[in-house]
Amino acid sequence: MSHAQLYPVPEHIKAKTLVTNEQYLAMYEESVSQPDQFWANHGKRISWFTPFTKVKDTSFDLGNVHVNWFSDGSLNASYNCLDRHLPEKAKDVAYYWEGDEPGVQKAVTYQELYDEVCQLANAMRTLGVNKGDRVTIYLPMIPAAVVSLLACARIGAIHSVVFAGFSPDALGSRIQDCDSKLVITSDQAARGSRLTYLKDNTDQALAHLGDANPAKHVIVVKHVGENIDFHQGRDLWYHEILAKEPKHCEPEVMNAEDPLFILYTSGSTGKPKGVLHTTGGYMVWASMTHQYVFDYKEGDIYWCAADIGWVTGHTYIVYGPLANGATSVLFEGVPTYPSVKRIAQVVDKYKVNILYTAPTAIRALMAHGTVAVDGADLSSLSILGSVGEPINPEAWSWYHQSYGKDNCPIVDTWWQTETGGILITPLPGATALKPGSATRPFFGVKPAIVTNEGELVEGVAEGNLVILDSWPGQMRTVFGDHERFEQTYFSTYKGMYFTGDGAKRDEDGYYWLTGRVDDVLNISGHRLGTAEIESCLVAHDAIAEAAVVGYPHDIKGQGIYVFVAPRVGVEPSDELTKAVRDWVRREISPIAAPDIIQWTPSLPKTRSGKIMRRILRKIAANEYDQLGDISTLADPSVVEHLIQNRLNR
Ligand code: WT7
Repeated sequence: MSHAQLYPVPEHIKAKTLVTNEQYLAMYEESVSQPDQFWANHGKRISWFTPFTKVKDTSFDLGNVHVNWFSDGSLNASYNCLDRHLPEKAKDVAYYWEGDEPGVQKAVTYQELYDEVCQLANAMRTLGVNKGDRVTIYLPMIPAAVVSLLACARIGAIHSVVFAGFSPDALGSRIQDCDSKLVITSDQAARGSRLTYLKDNTDQALAHLGDANPAKHVIVVKHVGENIDFHQGRDLWYHEILAKEPKHCEPEVMNAEDPLFILYTSGSTGKPKGVLHTTGGYMVWASMTHQYVFDYKEGDIYWCAADIGWVTGHTYIVYGPLANGATSVLFEGVPTYPSVKRIAQVVDKYKVNILYTAPTAIRALMAHGTVAVDGADLSSLSILGSVGEPINPEAWSWYHQSYGKDNCPIVDTWWQTETGGILITPLPGATALKPGSATRPFFGVKPAIVTNEGELVEGVAEGNLVILDSWPGQMRTVFGDHERFEQTYFSTYKGMYFTGDGAKRDEDGYYWLTGRVDDVLNISGHRLGTAEIESCLVAHDAIAEAAVVGYPHDIKGQGIYVFVAPRVGVEPSDELTKAVRDWVRREISPIAAPDIIQWTPSLPKTRSGKIMRRILRKIAANEYDQLGDISTLADPSVVEHLIQNRLNR
């Protein structure tokens, strides 16, 4: 690690960068020593209806955790993304939409986006959706998805986007948890030529909720075009209700601390949490990180290949780039359809300058060698980004060579749903890179490393990653459960925000993220709690007990290894294994489908009945010769049986 190869800032990047290393150091210093002054200044990048006079009002003290920024200012997020650009940019393209099938495409200008957002916002008001109401969005990667987020923001409704890969059950519990008045979905979704029946899933989710269903209406976008069941009085066609509305809609005046959105994410225990972000600080953070981290300049063509169902899509497909008036590519498909050349072809087609994607996609393409980039002109690229999980140096180098022609900095951006935007990252014109390191903190971010006992460690160190002070993009609470917010993030280490990640810091002060230290899995950059998958497994009638752990996986980063004990009288078989895998796929999502399922008569437990996951993790990783102390197990012979029958050899 300390001898990692250093990649200096390329001269052509340095020549026209927004921030050199000297500027980074000076700005960082001001941002942490005089946060009020720094943010009072940078807070002005957003258009305020009422300018703020207060800047930072935050505390990480357990029992009194609060996060308020710019709290007497008022603004509207959709105004910042649309209205304020119209005088100059009405005809500029906001999105080049690239459909799942090559050749299916559409350019959407700022004016067109504005018009459609206003129409949907008006339609929602007509349906009785008001400021503060919740709206669930369950859509493919199509322009209507962006329109839906912005239309909510325009009328002050709080959007909760549910990834289109989630099951009816997962959708239903999220609709119920935040008491959504309205659901916006489409007939079907197509990804990699495979259809997902979003409207059917929505029908099932709402039927399953029965009397507990809070949603009065479902707005349906006609996209793929196959038939759907239409519930008169409840369901409405998107195109029909929009056609009745004017292309102007007064934006709601929102306080800086009024909620903008909820996004559900998995934790180490219990059901997914509704991470709540508010308006002012989030918009400042989204726009500022988007500009500086990608060294974004007017006229750049920018492509974040994430999905709007995750926070990366919220901040770096919608709010950040639009706040900066950028032109983005919006991609419906997957990197491997119709072939592994797709990403390179789309870069070539739109002459993309900035490409932001995930290590799992890079590794999947890398498995095919240079085929992924052969024949495409990638000379437009100048900045590459990576997000979602640690990027291994081999994948980093391949990305750097094949896409970047060894001439484009890679920004390895570390952040979380909870952080709202990027916290630890190189800046293209300022930071010499080390493959596999997210390098240094963004402005205003104070990372630190603590031991398991909570002692801060200075200098070269390894331990748990915490953040010592608030930044404007931070989540404000868990929707409806502030106590859970305090307990989850501020009770492990007093007075600090605990990230759940492990990290090392090297002699240059660079951070190296080493993965989650809690029971959260990161499968292809998607976050899942082991507890969620376990509770789904034990709901299957063949299963008595289950334990889920992650193990190293070449493409996905982490794979899902499941240990299951059958109920009395149940004989494990290949068919049953397959049925269990399908069950999880159907109940949660294909992302959660186990890679490996090992049947076992029993699980290793302590005498007090706690499953010893530490041991299961070792077995799953094929490191069974390093099990450590197993003397506290109720029945140590269980371990021998598990090792004999392990499946990841
Ligand atoms: C977890 C957050 C960041 C938006 C998408 C994921 C892991 C994320 C990196 C990175 C190493 C990373 C962490 C983090 N992670 N980016 N560049 N290097 N690890 O958001 O679903 O909330 O997951 O993703 O473990 O805690 P998320």
